[in-house]
This record gives sequence, structure tokens and C-alpha cells, in this order.
Amino acid sequence: MGKKVAVVGAGNVGATAAQRLAEKDLCDVVLVDIVGGVPQGKALDLMEAAPIEKHDAKLAGVNGYEATAGSDVVIVTAGIPRKPGMSRDDLLATNAKIMRGVCGEIAKYSPGATLIIVSNPLDAMCHVAYEASGFPKNRVIGMAGVLDSARFRAFIAMELGVSVENTHAFVLGGHGDTMVPLPRYSTVAGIPITELMSPERVAALVERTRNGGAEIVSLLKTGSAYYAPASAAVEMAESILKDKKKILPCAALLSGEYGIKDLFIGVPVKLGRGGIEQIVEIRLTPEEDQALKKSAAAVQSLVDAMAAMK
Ligand code: NAI
Ligand code: 2OP
Repeated sequence: MGKKVAVVGAGNVGATAAQRLAEKDLCDVVLVDIVGGVPQGKALDLMEAAPIEKHDAKLAGVNGYEATAGSDVVIVTAGIPRKPGMSRDDLLATNAKIMRGVCGEIAKYSPGATLIIVSNPLDAMCHVAYEASGFPKNRVIGMAGVLDSARFRAFIAMELGVSVENTHAFVLGGHGDTMVPLPRYSTVAGIPITELMSPERVAALVERTRNGGAEIVSLLKTGSAYYAPASAAVEMAESILKDKKKILPCAALLSGEYGIKDLFIGVPVKLGRGGIEQIVEIRLTPEEDQALKKSAAAVQSLVDAMAAMK
């Protein structure tokens, strides 16, 4: 039987994710949005591109959840994006309400699905999705580290004039200003970047990675990044759908790993058919560990703020 993915939110990230899923011929796609006509129009447009793109994936656009029933994976991008001057955290109250509603519906129609959460503030939205869906923790996964690491990889490749394919990078922690890029674990052809560039240039790339989202927002002015975010969510979906067991940095609910408990935060995980099949614990230096704990404290304060709003 073919795979089915529902993408909730047919805006910039959602529609681009639908396009990438279909063009990789990974699955059929149901695009859901609250705005009448938009998911239908985008899905039809993508179906009309299929003869040229040479894929047989079926795409449907809907304003309800019946057609999403039995989805293997659900990518949730519903919400409002950042505008210039807004932090990801400014989105908290609005997107929490949207996330609660969406995940309640998904749980009803696709109780066996794995959720890939994209909406911001990412780590806090994972908590809402986990609560509202009632899904086990291995099937609620946040997309941020794959994007942040891809940005770091792109900057490394630009800096050194090498193929992006030669690069690997790890960015852990929350998806915010406290994220933790790990230069020691970021490599070109297996060589740590700390061996290939000066500490000042490493620090500059780390800083650019931390500001990667804001850099795009300040250029676009009317919204936030979507090509790279969609690619990141689809890489995660592909690893689950094909049971590839890739190790990717994703937001996962920790139960004592890295000394953190009951909090979603970005760590390396193995993604396969069962969703998160393993949380990989890598050894951190005291400075890296301190940075991760600081990032966890920032996520915790958002979770506390949401609890206070209830
Ligand atoms: P967008 O505004 O282009 O699309 C959002 C869509 O969600 C709109 O079409 C809107 O109608 C829809 N929507 C709103 N309420 C809904 C509901 N209750 N049910 C179904 N659909 C609903 O925004 P964009 O650029 O696609 O970003 C989406 C979200 O993803 C934002 O919260 C953004 O901050 C976040 N984001 C997160 C990233 C990450 O690394 N985790 C990266 C990029 C974006
Ligand atoms: C990003 O990092 C806005 O979170 C979004 O581009």
C-alpha cells in the first residue's frame, strides 16, 4: 500500500513541503488549511505539474480532516509566521491554540501517525502537540535541528568553497537564539571545521547560524523562510516513511537524557518507521553542556508561560 502524508497549513512551508514530497514520489499528500480554496488550488496546481515532473503522487487539498484519515506522517505547519521585529516566542499564544485544534483532529483521524511539528515557537509547540494528540513521545518530533544544521552546512561550504555534500553539522538545543551549534561535531569530509578555519571564522558562522531565521525574515519582510524548512521536514518524513534510520537533530521529549527531563529539545535521534527509535547521547564539553542547559531553560520558560495562559 502506498504511503500517505497529511500536511496541515497550506502556506509557504506546507505547500513547499507538499511539492517536495510529491516530486520525490514519496507518498500521496493531503494538504489541509482553514482558508477555503487555497489547499485545493495548490494541490491541483501541483497535480498539473506532475506530468512534467514525472511523478504519480496524488495530491488533494481540503478544509477538513476526513481525507487525512490513516496518514502515516503528518507535518504540521499551521500557524502564523514571524514578521520583522517579531520573535518566534511572540507567536506563542496564537499558534498554541491552532496546534491544539489541529492535533486533536489528527489524533481522531490518524491515531497511528507520526507527527512532525514545524510551527513556532517550535519546542513549545511540540509540548502542545504531545498533550493534544495523546501520542507516545516517539511519535511527536519537532523540526528545527535539521534546518539549523543545514544552514550551518551551507555557511561552511560557502566559507571553504567546498561541496555542501562534503559537509556535516550538528546544531542542538531549542530553535531560538540559544540554539547550540557544535563546531567540534561539524565536519568537511570528516575533518572538524575547527581544524579548517580560525576560531574567529568558526564563531562568525556559529553566529550566522543562530541568526539564520532572522536573516531571512529581514530580507523577505513579509514572512519567514520556507524552502530550507520544507526540505528539512521532508528529510525527516523520508527517513520515517522509508525506515532509513537516519541520525538527525530533532526536537524530542527527553526523559533524563542529557540531564534534561520532560522537555522537548533538539538532540540527535534515529528516525525510522517507529518515529524516534533512539535518542543518541553524545559527549559534550562542560561549555557545550552549559549552553544546552541554558537553551533548555529558555524552552522551559515558554512552556511555563503557556501553562500560565491556560
Ligand atoms: P504561512 O502563513 O505561509 O502558512 C501558514 C498556514 O497555516 C496559512 O495558510 C494559514 O491559513 C494556515 N492555518 C492557520 N490556522 C490554521 C488551522 N487552524 N488549520 C489549518 N491551517 C491553518 O506560514 P509559513 O511560512 O508556512 O510558516 C508556518 C509556521 O512554521 C510558522 O509558525 C513559522 O514560524 C513556522 N516555521 C518553523 C520553522 C522551524 O524551523 N521549525 C521554519 C519555518 C517556519
Ligand atoms: C526559521 O528559522 C522562522 O523558525 C523559522 O526560519
